[in-house]
Amino acid sequence: MKNLGILLSGRGSNFEAIANHVAAGKIPGARIAVVISNKPDAGGLTTAKKLGLTVLAIPSKGLAREEHDRAVVAALKEHKVDLVCLAGYMRLLSPWFVQQFPRRILNIHPSLLPAFPGLEAQEQAFAYGVKVSGCTVHFVDEELDHGPIIVQKAVTVLDSDDEHTLAARILEQEHIAYSEAIRIVLEGKYQVVGRKLVRAVTAK
Ligand code: GAR
Repeated sequence: MKNLGILLSGRGSNFEAIANHVAAGKIPGARIAVVISNKPDAGGLTTAKKLGLTVLAIPSKGLAREEHDRAVVAALKEHKVDLVCLAGYMRLLSPWFVQQFPRRILNIHPSLLPAFPGLEAQEQAFAYGVKVSGCTVHFVDEELDHGPIIVQKAVTVLDSDDEHTLAARILEQEHIAYSEAIRIVLEGKYQVVGRKLVRAVTAK
């Protein structure tokens, strides 16, 4: 059994989708060992508690980045986490944090990276006038929204869209993409060549 550690800062809909998929056996061999938030009032923590999961609030306010990261990493290690999933975790990880879990930290971002990294990606894409956007699940490295891509899902921008309707359709795809990426990583049948995740070809 592989232990997932979820880090979130907000409403936690991506976390909830992962939790539902785990409960439905759609991410074989995975369990959620701990859900951690830097925001004690995050909606995702309330959901996690309702689901009976182990929940921790480790407030980041007033702490230096690495001091906070040390507390989070200690908690992840205490719960024997194999794979860290950032699910709307609105903090940049220190290089030290990233080095503690080499190629074992995933992030989801609501754009087709490398387009529109950073905050409010859906609004950025909408304002730019793109015709296609989407979401990306990627390994976390030391740069923002940057590591090798595991899964991307495209979403067509409709003439009738505003940034909210577009963000809602991207979010639907996020909820599918994240579990798919976790499955790929836990299965382990891939190599990362340069920036490229190459999946092993399975004989039929
Ligand atoms: C999601 O759209 C996620 O892609 C985004 O925050 C939202 C969290 O929603 N993350 C980023 O922008 C990271 N750069 P959720 O709390 O409902 O999962």
